[in-house]
Amino acid sequence: MAKVLIIGSGGREHALGWKLAQSPHVEEVIYAPGNGGTEVEEKGRNVKISKSSSQSFRDIAELIASESIDLTIVGPEDPLANGIVDYLNGKGYNRVFGPTMAPAKLEADKFYSYQIMEELGIQQAQSEFCYSTTEAIIAITRMATSKGIVIKARGLAAGKGVVVCDSNNQALEEIVKHTLKFGEDVLIAERLFGQEFSVFGISDGNQVYPIEISLQDHKPQLDGDKGPNTGGMGAYGPAPIASVDVVRDVAENIMTPVVQRMKERGEEYKGFLYAGMMMTKEGPKVIEFNVRFGDPECQPAMMMIKSDFYETLSLAMAGRLDEVDMEFNPGASCCVVMASVGYPGSYRKGLPIRGIEEVESVEGVKVFHAGTAQHKHEGLITSGGRVLGVTPYSPEGIKEARELAYSATDVIQIASSTSYRGTVFHFRRDIASKALED
Ligand code: AMP
Ligand code: GLY
Repeated sequence: MAKVLIIGSGGREHALGWKLAQSPHVEEVIYAPGNGGTEVEEKGRNVKISKSSSQSFRDIAELIASESIDLTIVGPEDPLANGIVDYLNGKGYNRVFGPTMAPAKLEADKFYSYQIMEELGIQQAQSEFCYSTTEAIIAITRMATSKGIVIKARGLAAGKGVVVCDSNNQALEEIVKHTLKFGEDVLIAERLFGQEFSVFGISDGNQVYPIEISLQDHKPQLDGDKGPNTGGMGAYGPAPIASVDVVRDVAENIMTPVVQRMKERGEEYKGFLYAGMMMTKEGPKVIEFNVRFGDPECQPAMMMIKSDFYETLSLAMAGRLDEVDMEFNPGASCCVVMASVGYPGSYRKGLPIRGIEEVESVEGVKVFHAGTAQHKHEGLITSGGRVLGVTPYSPEGIKEARELAYSATDVIQIASSTSYRGTVFHFRRDIASKALED
């Protein structure tokens, strides 16, 4: 029986651990540091690690040794970009799922990913690399277009490094503010139009095996895609904009060539790979690559996987993806994120969360936790911006999955807000609307 270690504390990590715990091969899932939901999850246990990056790497190495961990999965991008996999491999721990620092540049360095796609002729937004504000101003002026321009920070910026501008003038107004905040290296990109969707794959270094369910995120805070961008207010899959064939095509003709090119460069890519795509009039184009699962897309994705995910990941670790044949559930899954009021701006913490047991007693309903904590006296309380991912699965389809989601969010909102005597949560009412429009 195997022990799995999951690094991270969000809804994505809860969903990965929940799915892996279903495998008969898995004895225990340890979350470092985990959250209020992972702590009480079946086969789950939380372990504290240091908040400092270098000390946390040491803590994790010690944990792998003391707990005899069989498989470690790194959830978020920051430790990957900071070289956690290199560090653990250097200590002799090789069963760590995630790319090393060099291939993690696919997310951490937008110049690097643009260059690789350019070399391979992959469809993406036309962009120029700029190394100073002056170069960026020249590029914006030169990119004569009436359709708008996108400014992208070169490095990691927690989803805040991209400004989509309606005009060259707006881009010229934004550029100085942007470079002051995120540094002078920027991509000035052509603005693309179309529905976005996310494709996830598993890479063993040689090829990418797709999660065949396409997913759609909802980044803005408010209904109708209004308000500031957040980490993601909800997600569902499959997204009708991208069929299984489109997903397979992205994996075969975009993701696999990328990992093969990386291997040729001596930068072997093992781990989850995420392509943020846009369905344009000219077909699917890549917006960005990430070197991990998306959050909250991971939550409905895990609900849709039928196969033993531990077996899949073990084969991927061994470079044997050609033996994998994953099965997926029929129907759909819809995740509605319940966030603290005020998020992504400032918000209160420590508010009561009630009603989870009640909603989870309904068949198909699962609530993944993100910013939650178990308090000795108060029970479950809020401790972050995105608090819960209410993620039902329905074999019937997206309409039914979404109805289950909104019945559950209403129960949790009323029970929590009654206990607090104020409104505890904000959530969008229109998750998955694009799937239901015709
Ligand atoms: P990224 O961090 O690159 O995924 O960008 C964040 C968001 O900005 C994306 O999800 C898109 O909504 C938007 N975006 C990024 N690049 C473009 C582009 N070239 N055209 C239109 N929108 C874009
Ligand atoms: N859901 C978007 C992301 O994880 O980056």
